[in-house]
Amino acid sequence: MQNTVIVGTQWGDEGKGKIVDLLSEHADYVVRFQGGNNAGHTMVVEGKEIISHLIPSGIIQQKRCFIGNGVVVDPFVLLEEIDYLLSNNIDVSPDMLKISNRAHIIMPYHRVIDSAREAKKGDQKIGTTGRGIGPCYEDKATRRGMRFCDLLDFDFFKEKVRNILEEKNFYLKNYFNTEIVDPETIINQIQQIKDRLIPYIEDVSVILFDGIQNNKTVLFEGAQGTHLDIEHGTYPFVTSSSVVSGNAANGSGVGPANLNEIIGIVKAYTTRVGEGPFATELFDDIGDKIQRTGSEFGATTGRKRRCGWLDMVVLKNAARLNSLTGLALTKLDVLDDLDEIKICTGYQHNGIEVSNFPSEIKTLQECSPVYETHPGWKQDISGITEFNDLPENAKKYLARIEELSGVNIKIVSVGPGREATIIKENFFN
Ligand code: GDP
Ligand code: IMO
Ligand code: MG
Repeated sequence: MQNTVIVGTQWGDEGKGKIVDLLSEHADYVVRFQGGNNAGHTMVVEGKEIISHLIPSGIIQQKRCFIGNGVVVDPFVLLEEIDYLLSNNIDVSPDMLKISNRAHIIMPYHRVIDSAREAKKGDQKIGTTGRGIGPCYEDKATRRGMRFCDLLDFDFFKEKVRNILEEKNFYLKNYFNTEIVDPETIINQIQQIKDRLIPYIEDVSVILFDGIQNNKTVLFEGAQGTHLDIEHGTYPFVTSSSVVSGNAANGSGVGPANLNEIIGIVKAYTTRVGEGPFATELFDDIGDKIQRTGSEFGATTGRKRRCGWLDMVVLKNAARLNSLTGLALTKLDVLDDLDEIKICTGYQHNGIEVSNFPSEIKTLQECSPVYETHPGWKQDISGITEFNDLPENAKKYLARIEELSGVNIKIVSVGPGREATIIKENFFN
């Protein structure tokens, strides 16, 4: 396998974890490059479900894993995740996992601000995961962030915490009318875990560079989805990081010429968690059926995911923004029972055809989807492992997606397990 980037093409939860787990077998290193523990990536191995929020999914295949500089890391969640993986007999020692010295730390006050801000917004809330992601990236951008390398000089770290809390506490007290955060408590909490964290801290960019020089293969694991991207998504109903493939380079400190394959993960339909426009959302029995059949509950917050038809305006947007070289289409089995399946081929706005994804939320909310209808296959496909064995109507549905998106489908997933996978075009060995 060449260096491969995995990105979500929709609004997250496309099944990235499953595909990363599958491809990890052919990689030497697996790297997260953005986001934080707002992600929830599910792997099902021999019937056992494992969810990772921060540590790359490649850890399940026991590949060397890296958390890049572009990730924001809650150190308490990280240690919990390490313990959870250890209890599943997965080695997460510092030989297996490194965290970039430049990665930013999600501090307890980031979580407090995230929740307070959402509560204050009421109806206008984003529907964040409440994990402190936005406030942490905000401090990074305003150059007040705490980084992992700061832990190596704890006196400096303590000073920084005390300084920054003067401003944060003013904001919490006077703007949110909420409780303030005691700097000494936070310093104590971090002091208790810092010795466990320090062996994991390294210059990840340098290790990856050396590895690539020595023909090691890197798999980049994206989180969220293209339409949650801070630049290109449904702003402001987005996450706070750049999700698209270009950021795989920046967020891990690897030069862009090292990115070879870029695989977009697309669910056979669409889901979204949290607020924000969603043109093909279903509010009827079919939407409920997809939600139930697909067990569409958030892997991080447990919230019900909103469900709707596949949207080609969205997929074409993702193909362009990410330079997709292939698609992995997941959850095709969830549609097994439907009489008819719709694909949105474009939008209409005030009677005018819209073919590119609108930038304004209001316009997007006013767009109505234009559908074409395909007959279902009405057959259980979850045991199929050869493309040719798929029912004709399923093949036609896939061919139409390739035609409309201009990108070849290389993998088809028909169940949550590693084994429930059809390799249509082998690009990895
Ligand atoms: P991620 O965030 O993109 O990694 O996706 P999530 O793990 O949040 O959500 C995807 C869900 O779908 C998980 O529960 C997976 O186990 C499950 N899943 C992945 N691929 C398939 C598939 O092809 N069919 C079915 N039925 N479930 C799948
Ligand atoms: P994975 O990697 C789905 C959504 C939240 C909210 C918005 C902003 O599992 O696909 P944030 O906490 O990031 O500030 O929330 O983004 N969101 C996700 N939705 N899958 C995810 O990750 C998500 N990460 C964030 O629901 O709407
Ligand atoms: Mg998820």
